[in-house]
Amino acid sequence: MKISVQIGDLRTIEVDAICCPTFEGNKLDDIGKIIDRSTNGQISHLLTLGDHTGKIKQSTILYSNEGITSPRVCLVGLGKLKRLNLEAIRQATASALRKIQELGCKTVACSVSVPEASGDQIQALVVGAKLGLYQFNQYQTNTDTETSIEELCLLVSSELGRETVEKIVRKAEAIADGTLFARDLTNHPANKLTPTDFANRAQDLAATSNYLECQIFDQVELAKKGFNALLGVAQGGPQAPKLIQLTYKPKSPLKTETVVLVGKGITFDSGGLSLKSGTGMMTMKSDMAGAAAVMATIQVISQIRPNLTVIGLIAATENMPSGTAQKPGDVVKSFGGKTIEVLNTDAEGRLVLADVLGYAKIFEPKAVVDLATLTGAVVTALGRHVAGIMGTNQQLIDQLIVAGEATHERLWQLPLFDDYDDGIKSDIADVKNIGDGTAGAIIGGAFLKHFADGYAWAHIDIGGASDYQKGSAYLPKSASGYGVRLLTRFLCDFVAD
Ligand code: BES
Ligand code: MG
Ligand code: ZN
Repeated sequence: MKISVQIGDLRTIEVDAICCPTFEGNKLDDIGKIIDRSTNGQISHLLTLGDHTGKIKQSTILYSNEGITSPRVCLVGLGKLKRLNLEAIRQATASALRKIQELGCKTVACSVSVPEASGDQIQALVVGAKLGLYQFNQYQTNTDTETSIEELCLLVSSELGRETVEKIVRKAEAIADGTLFARDLTNHPANKLTPTDFANRAQDLAATSNYLECQIFDQVELAKKGFNALLGVAQGGPQAPKLIQLTYKPKSPLKTETVVLVGKGITFDSGGLSLKSGTGMMTMKSDMAGAAAVMATIQVISQIRPNLTVIGLIAATENMPSGTAQKPGDVVKSFGGKTIEVLNTDAEGRLVLADVLGYAKIFEPKAVVDLATLTGAVVTALGRHVAGIMGTNQQLIDQLIVAGEATHERLWQLPLFDDYDDGIKSDIADVKNIGDGTAGAIIGGAFLKHFADGYAWAHIDIGGASDYQKGSAYLPKSASGYGVRLLTRFLCDFVAD
């Protein structure tokens, strides 16, 4: 869908549908009042009748409006005018555009008044529109009947407004496209996105930008450098593991600070010899959602170019059972030298992350943030609306929580008290990879803490947030693309601070 910014009037633009904002309590803003007048008060009439209430996500179509060129007016419910927030805008835009798309419309227009509408509000509109219309149908052969909106026109009233809004829209598009890229990567089945495919995509991405560099470590180099925990996970299957290092560097002559993003990239998690059940592994193609978010964030960052070096590290491998697979009880020496007793091969995410977190230290980063579909326990604890965060630096955690509020990719902090450390003490190695079954998400974090040494670190467990099974206005069934908007916001604010 193309998004254009034009000087124009909602009443006279030739499109298949125009959007008109409405609010609960029979309220209209300036745009709504103008459209209401042009439709002989039909909108206020509907609001008075209560047939359209203006509640968030309620969309009602009006036809035969003589004073309007477009054949359809879509009344978009935005909730209470006084409480208008960014999430209401995302949700409302997504549901309105979905409704308009279902009708087969190709072009749609919204009015944006600047400076009344803030940059964040315009961004929320674009993000809601693009994320709401997302479909993943690459593997379906009969999609002839599906239509999609081809153009969204944002109307402004002056040239100055056009330039301002154009800039905001291009940034918002980059962010939304990044989220869709992460959704696509996560939705691809494991036979179409192997660790090698993942590495190729990183290389393709780097080839499109002068600001990106990509380095891939293959099995031989990983062995030479001592990524034994990662190799242990990979040894059960035929797919070669890859460590993907994607670097964004601004073209600034000044020395910039470095932030490292680490992503768990298990392209399929069968559990290994500690095999999952059939239902348990049904969604495990998405065990690389953290890696997808990291890669897509680097894509966005290379387009909006903050003055900060960002390094994405992705550990990509399958976790498979076989005669060569790692066995419960095996001991491996991680990148940094610490030894791990692998008591459960299904707790593999923390193994690959242990190596990569150790490796991250060589970049002398100001902060390291890892994103991982690490535990089922975080889904039990927090559900799917929020991800769990823990770490060693409260300021970093707070910055991420703030970015989560702004983007509605929310975070909830879990305690990483030292008391939990006893839970992963091993009888024969430095640590073991499971606890006693209690506090599963925290035990995952406590394990990682051993390896995240020498920098400020935060761990985000997206086991729940990465998949949105019910679907909502702008979160479809399956991959949510969680993390891209959060991390982008965090990185941009990190520079500003
Ligand atoms: N990838 C899973 C975690 C997961 C499960 C994410 C369900 C999203 C939905 C991870 O590798 C795993 O299997 N974790 C185990 C850890 C346990 C063995 C300590 C789990 O959560 O059961
Ligand atoms: Mg597992
Ligand atoms: Zn896993």
